[in-house]
Amino acid sequence: MFNIKNKVVVITGGLGLLGNAFSMECARHGASVVIADLDDKKAKDTIERIKKETKNNNVLFQHCNITNKDDALALIDATLKKFGKIDALVNNAYPKNKNYGKKFEEVSFEDFCENINMHLGGYFLITKEVSKIMIKQNFGNVINLASIYGFSAPKFEIYEGTQMTMPVEYAAIKGAIINLTRYLAAYLGKYNIRVNSISPGGVFNDQPESFVRKYSKNVVLGGKMAATEDLTGILIFLLSDASKYMTGQNLVIDGGWTL
Ligand SMILES: NC(=O)c1ccc[n+]([C@@H]2O[C@H](COP(=O)([O-])OP(=O)(O)OC[C@H]3O[C@@H](n4cnc5c(N)ncnc54)[C@H](O)[C@@H]3O)[C@@H](O)[C@H]2O)c1
Repeated sequence: MFNIKNKVVVITGGLGLLGNAFSMECARHGASVVIADLDDKKAKDTIERIKKETKNNNVLFQHCNITNKDDALALIDATLKKFGKIDALVNNAYPKNKNYGKKFEEVSFEDFCENINMHLGGYFLITKEVSKIMIKQNFGNVINLASIYGFSAPKFEIYEGTQMTMPVEYAAIKGAIINLTRYLAAYLGKYNIRVNSISPGGVFNDQPESFVRKYSKNVVLGGKMAATEDLTGILIFLLSDASKYMTGQNLVIDGGWTL
């Protein structure tokens, strides 16, 4: 039921913190993985490491900026040429412009719009192009990375005393991705295409100690931030037939932080 062997899975942002763990786990489960990301140099090492650790050679890198239509089409071409089909698209990239990450009152209108265009717009663009193939195939599975901040408010006090904040664009983008997921699930269901989202809580990534401590206080399970391995099982579930009657849902995986 949880088998994803020989499924072709395209993962945008597959070189990043979560994307790398997702790509590795899919390869370990025998899927054919296409990593779509920006950094060709990093890709070489990552691909070699995944192939070596999983003994799965069906791992491909395709340079792809998710906000560029030609790149989207080239990604689809390369995937079909190599593997002949696209079973699943994992929208996991995290595009941001150079001013991203400021406090609310310091975010310009232009930066707000640009970040929404890049992240939300990029998810729309790739999904639109890939869904054309999935419609032809009469099967497909789209998984969008949303966030706890797509449906709950930040606790701003956890960022105090650090350079970090929870950017206003992120709340708008991730909230929109959760509802885009519902829209697409309803629209694409008749073509046998499922669309769901995952909303992880904060993942440990060497953030400042005071932030980690304050964040962790609200985590019900184990009182700590997520590790990347905590999030891979839910992806395998969504990619597999174990979830074949599920669409339009937002799966929250945050150790109980938002309860
Ligand atoms: N890390 C967390 O705590 C966390 C929590 C909840 C949700 N998420 C979501 O999970 C996803 C992955 O997050 P992450 O922490 O691994 O991010 P990350 O920054 O570590 O990785 C993101 C990857 O996306 C790639 N990327 C950026 N712009 C791109 C573009 N235009 N086209 C293609 N690739 C592009 C980057 O090169 C990078 O490899 C994001 O959608 C993020 O919002 C992360």
